[in-house]
Amino acid sequence: MIENNVEQFIKLIPPQNSLKDFASMAKSFQHLMTYYRCAIMEVETKFRVLDVQLSLNNETNPIETIKTRLKHPDSIAAKIQRRNLPLTLESIEKNLFDIAGVRVICSFPEDIYRLADCLLRQDDVTLIERKDYIQTPKPNGYRSLHLIIEIPIYLQEEKRMMKVEVQLRTIAMDFWASLEHKLRYKKDIRTVEHYEQISEKLKACAEMSAVLDKQMEAIRNQIEGI
Ligand code: GTP
Ligand code: MG
Repeated sequence: MIENNVEQFIKLIPPQNSLKDFASMAKSFQHLMTYYRCAIMEVETKFRVLDVQLSLNNETNPIETIKTRLKHPDSIAAKIQRRNLPLTLESIEKNLFDIAGVRVICSFPEDIYRLADCLLRQDDVTLIERKDYIQTPKPNGYRSLHLIIEIPIYLQEEKRMMKVEVQLRTIAMDFWASLEHKLRYKKDIRTVEHYEQISEKLKACAEMSAVLDKQMEAIRNQIEGI
């Protein structure tokens, strides 16, 4: 995976003055991606620990699944170019906050906020940005809680602060987002009316699934209260 990333990156960087500079840049990119991979591991472990601990009280695990991803070099370059930023390692690290991604999928909306609060209370976690698309969904109906956090990774001789994008959603929000993502990138939605009709239907689905999430949560709470 990491090897493959380096090959991709080499294709993107402009020819350097010497082969040595070029090799050194590729190597630094590989190191940076490895640090992001380590940051993903740290954050994933934090959630796994919280999941186990919260299940001690309630006998159910709040987390259904954790998915992680390292941003592909092509997407890194595309985002840097879109924002007219220099394609250097310093600029990548300074400007892109979603190279390391951790997606936490829960059954119930309340668990999302409980997990986010527990994570943010940890003294090695710094909140950089919080976007609550559950409280305020995107106009297309997209819902999730997004956090950009900074955490330390401990290397042989240094402590390095790394940024990680965390997305917390319910199973229903995740199902909706995967479907919407697939449709958005489908090339054969030919007409504007067709596109708008599908968007309207998707938005209605998002609203129905938010109602379902709330109702299921109310049932869970009722069962737990008995
Ligand atoms: P980006 O340039 O996309 O990072 O924009 P941003 O910094 O405003 O990020 P935002 O927090 O809005 O969204 C970042 C990520 O959330 C995306 O990469 C997707 O994974 C997810 N996301 C945001 N909006 C949508 C949406 O409308 N549909 C789906 N399927 N996913 C979304
Ligand atoms: Mg982003």
